[in-house]
Amino acid sequence: MAPSVHVFAPATVANVVCGFDVLGFAVDAPGDEVIMRLKNRSGITISKITGDNGKLPMNPLKNTVSVSVQHYLNSIGRPDIGLDIELHKKMPIGSGLGSSSASTVAGLYAIKTLMGDDSSPEKLLPFAMKGEELACGHGHADNVAPALMGGFVLIRSYRPLDVIRLPHPKELFCAIVFPDVDVPTREARQIIRNKVLLEDAVTQWGNIAGLVSGLYTNDIDLIGRSMEDVLIEPVRAMLIPDFYKLRKLAMDAGAVSFGISGSGPSVFAFARNEQTAHLITQKVQEHLTAIKINSQAYVSKINDNGPKILG
Ligand code: HSE
Repeated sequence: MAPSVHVFAPATVANVVCGFDVLGFAVDAPGDEVIMRLKNRSGITISKITGDNGKLPMNPLKNTVSVSVQHYLNSIGRPDIGLDIELHKKMPIGSGLGSSSASTVAGLYAIKTLMGDDSSPEKLLPFAMKGEELACGHGHADNVAPALMGGFVLIRSYRPLDVIRLPHPKELFCAIVFPDVDVPTREARQIIRNKVLLEDAVTQWGNIAGLVSGLYTNDIDLIGRSMEDVLIEPVRAMLIPDFYKLRKLAMDAGAVSFGISGSGPSVFAFARNEQTAHLITQKVQEHLTAIKINSQAYVSKINDNGPKILG
């Protein structure tokens, strides 16, 4: 039998409200899976994609998984390696949960494993960012970095790339609700203003510094009051039905903080325990159902492990 590997990579919450393009963390579930097999014949094929309702390209020149894997193979001087990819989507596409990142990271971790490459997963980051560029026109790292490295991650700089793992309170739970409305990242990026007022920038960097301090000192109150976004959320909130009503419901149910996950439409909250996290998803989902919007909910701790080999 040809060598093969089956890898899971986690969904991620990018931005974490105040840290547009610079903060993200991984969750335990959902996530995507890739099964990769080496072949005798050179070139990459994609033999199967499940869970995407036919939305994703089977053409290896257009699929983010194969494209990023090919970049990796080129970089190690093995561009002609033959392999086949099966992609199993276990999370909604265009959800703001780093769907394309989870697939790309699962693929890159699979090829690294098949190649016997024991360098740190962080080294795969530039290839994963190529996948993001293909998926939404911009190579940001706030989904791919936590999906690859696990945990809570800060992209301190893009040029040069400088990525820092942050600690976090172990008891924090994350409640996520995906309202089933379409918000492609490419479009959610186009509506953002590209100039900001100094006054707003001061508020924002104060909040980012406060959030990072709270993560280091396990100060959940500080984390909560720092998770305020005066730059991006006021614009993107309009893409999410009843966003401010959902926030009030979550906060009244005991959330530490509430905001948009990545570019949306998923929303997320931090909670001090699992029970509160479930109560938050229940309240948010009840309201979405009342306004006739289907939704899916996930409750998870912050995932410190990143990708996992399933077989
Ligand atoms: N930081 C990115 C954005 C994440 O908000 O556009 C995309 O999921």
